[in-house]
Amino acid sequence: MNLEESLNKIWQDAEKDFEGAENLRQLEELKIKYLGRKSYLAEFPSLLKNLSSEEKRKIGSLYNDLKTKIQNLYLKKKEILSEEKIKFDFEHPGIDIKIGHQHLISQTLDEIKNIFLQLGFSIVDYDQIVDEKENFDYLNVPPNHPARDMWDTLWVKNFKGYLFRTHTSVFQVPIFKKFGVPLKAVIFGKVFRYEATDRTHDFEFYQLDGISVSEKTNLGHLKWTVEKFFEKFFTQKVKIRFRPSYFPFVEPGLEIDISCVLCNQKGCPVCKKTGFIEVAGAGMIHNFVFKSAGIDYKKYQGYAFGFGVDRLIMIKHNIDDIRILHSSDLRFIEQF
Ligand code: PHE
Repeated sequence: MNLEESLNKIWQDAEKDFEGAENLRQLEELKIKYLGRKSYLAEFPSLLKNLSSEEKRKIGSLYNDLKTKIQNLYLKKKEILSEEKIKFDFEHPGIDIKIGHQHLISQTLDEIKNIFLQLGFSIVDYDQIVDEKENFDYLNVPPNHPARDMWDTLWVKNFKGYLFRTHTSVFQVPIFKKFGVPLKAVIFGKVFRYEATDRTHDFEFYQLDGISVSEKTNLGHLKWTVEKFFEKFFTQKVKIRFRPSYFPFVEPGLEIDISCVLCNQKGCPVCKKTGFIEVAGAGMIHNFVFKSAGIDYKKYQGYAFGFGVDRLIMIKHNIDDIRILHSSDLRFIEQF
């Protein structure tokens, strides 16, 4: 094959090859094959050395034409393939959009609300930043009373007398003033404590408080109500135990325990082998509170209770660190 024939052959091959390129990567490989530094065409000029000058001119110009033609082949094909690349592929699967869901705390609050609605309570709400009088004084905890130490308080800077409510019991007097009695109501929400955190304490957490007041409401009603509530919440029978305790706004004051729902009283780390877990503070509403609300305490009586929602969630779902509930860790959130 003489030089002219070999140039023709290269042209035929190149036309076929470039035609067949399916993507830009293949095209770049062809460019290297035909026009690259080690290609036949790159070495071609050295083959012209021994030719007569007339032949050199002839073959030389054929060679130059061929190079330009191949370059054009390359450019044209590149244009075609690039256009194809930006064409929209309607069948390409899209990126999954993650749809969120209610957090375990909100799910549980809804669950608890429904149970209390079934038990005949109204759901009410109240402020998170409150007056010290509502949080303490009206509830029989005057300034400098040692009982204030039961609630480490976050005060609002530059607003003297205002604080982040330390308990949902803060709602009692305002709600009595607003709706009067008889009344059965519960409140849910965040409360705040100036406290170091550990596995069972956080500086903010959820509480639930309930009150029921009429002319005849007594501790028996309280016992029945909490028993029904916990049975529905834990979907199993529970035993209720009252222990005497002290909260300034109730008299008598109680601590409520329920039989351990995790081990059925066989003894486990959660109930510390006692068979019971402490779940709530409660008692009969103190006359002082009725007086603060302007209610005739000789005519009306009632109970109050309060518990930590996070703690109930931890018991129900066997979670051993309260702080994970308020983190935004998806590995946790996605489990519920
Ligand atoms: N508010 C109390 C607390 O935070 C709990 C409680 C509520 C006790 C109602 C008695 C009655 O500790």
